Amino acid sequence: MKGEEDKGGRQPPKFLLQNGHRFYQLDLSFLKSYRLGTVPTGEVLTFGDDNFINLEETGVKEAQKAAFVLVAGGLGERLGYNGIKVALPAETTTETCFLQHYIEYILALQEASCRLTGGECQKEIPFVIMTSDDTHARTLELLESNSYFGMKPAQVKLLKQEKVACLDDNDARLAVDPHNKYRIQTKPHGHGDVHSLLYSSGLLKIWRDNGLRWVLFFQDTNGLLFKAIPASLGVSAIKQYHVNSLAVPRKAKEAIGGITRLTHADGRSMVINVEYNQLDPLLKATGFPDGDVNCETGYSPFPGNINQLILELGPYIEELTKTRGAIKEFVNPKYKDASKTSFKSSTRLECMMQDYPKTLSPTARVGFTVMDTWLAYAPVKNNPEDAAKVPKGNPYHSATSGEMSIYRANSLILRKAGAQVDDPVQEVFNGQELEVWPCIAWKPKWGLTFSEIKRKVSGGCSISQKSTLAIKGRNIIIEDLLLDGALIIDSTDAAEVRVGGSVHNKGWILEKVDYKDTSFPEEIRIRGFRFNKIEQVEENYSEAGKFVLKP
Ligand code: UTP
Repeated sequence: MKGEEDKGGRQPPKFLLQNGHRFYQLDLSFLKSYRLGTVPTGEVLTFGDDNFINLEETGVKEAQKAAFVLVAGGLGERLGYNGIKVALPAETTTETCFLQHYIEYILALQEASCRLTGGECQKEIPFVIMTSDDTHARTLELLESNSYFGMKPAQVKLLKQEKVACLDDNDARLAVDPHNKYRIQTKPHGHGDVHSLLYSSGLLKIWRDNGLRWVLFFQDTNGLLFKAIPASLGVSAIKQYHVNSLAVPRKAKEAIGGITRLTHADGRSMVINVEYNQLDPLLKATGFPDGDVNCETGYSPFPGNINQLILELGPYIEELTKTRGAIKEFVNPKYKDASKTSFKSSTRLECMMQDYPKTLSPTARVGFTVMDTWLAYAPVKNNPEDAAKVPKGNPYHSATSGEMSIYRANSLILRKAGAQVDDPVQEVFNGQELEVWPCIAWKPKWGLTFSEIKRKVSGGCSISQKSTLAIKGRNIIIEDLLLDGALIIDSTDAAEVRVGGSVHNKGWILEKVDYKDTSFPEEIRIRGFRFNKIEQVEENYSEAGKFVLKP
């Protein structure tokens, strides 16, 4: 580790930078021989245009050749939630938890892909979840107690990463387990473990032998991600990217890694994520005196990495055969104060999955796909107290913003599809000021791609700001609907329901909940609101056939 260079580890590690509430050890060693950080090539997509629609179609076709890998071994120290993060509701209108939400998207992709290619496809899209000792038992329990949310148990594989020993101080003393003084404390080794685990599991070769071509990696709490998946997979297929990193526009100095092209003194170059705390010094040291600044677009020229990767399976296996999935490690101590003498909590060696391209040959096709943040990125990482301290204008990345971002994205998508959706109002929850749009949620099988959503609402739809709309069935067609209140509608796949007319009721009222109010469950407290379900129209069509709902 880096600290060992400092006279037997007695001095605090050098190059420590403070960023927000976290301290990072700045390890520039891998950058030493690189002299230039320049803007790499990639695709910048505009939601809903013809190119986007075509890419989504290509992506859905490719999905039958994909496997999905969720990294879910993290501790979630910043969120501080007592359960596992994937068990949290992504939104509370349908109360769908993240794991269910991901599984339902994968199943919807599987079905749509099969349909689009005329039924000639593999039966099931494989789904791997990387867990750790901190999350394994609870992840398994969540799956088993919910019948794998509709997936076949054999379709899901859990790979458990091992934890590593923790260090208590700058002298690298081993930390003692707070619950058992005869044990060394351990923590997960970072999401970079996913590569060696996949390699040693033998799954990659099985997938290749079954004709798969893509592996998609994603993280535990981004409720928007799958809105970006079909088009991004389409980009991978058309551009034949070996590595495709999903990205969003990045404001200079925003706490999100930048995707850059690093050029070596000997001419070699690589496209790689540079962590935000390293980007500014790197640029300053390589001929950009202003460092990390916005360009004429008002954004940094380096797209913000959201750490969702699409790898082409063949080249991935080739690379792992050489490296066995080993990823460069680092330490990331979080200090109590600026004296940098004691840690907030013990630290350990870690590695990151996005560092995978570092060992690739310069001929590897590495690119990125940029999409709007509102469409693709709203992770739940911060507890309410820390989120409230986030500087104004920066994303909160809290349970509140995660849920509100889903409603905003759904509202904006419906608007783009021709629906009339009222403007949001501003509200403050747990000290975070956010836009409150109508609470609109739908199941992935209802609206997997923009063209499908457009087709299903083309008959006209108008939704007031205080409305709640949950669409849970596949073939629900909105025709001339005027919604001012709450409408919850479900149907079996064999039913087709046309919904229209005026739905006007007292609806569901958003009531604020203080995060310190322990009379509410933790899931509610950390988002700062609950629904008071006063009145709604709720219908469930469980029989096959054609129906009309016109209240
Ligand atoms: P985060 O950066 O959110 O880290 O991880 P975290 O450990 O979950 O949360 P903090 O930093 O303690 O607050 C990004 C993704 O990587 C996974 C997480 O589960 C999340 O999906 N991860 C992280 C692992 O799978 N293993 C790890 O060792 C660390």
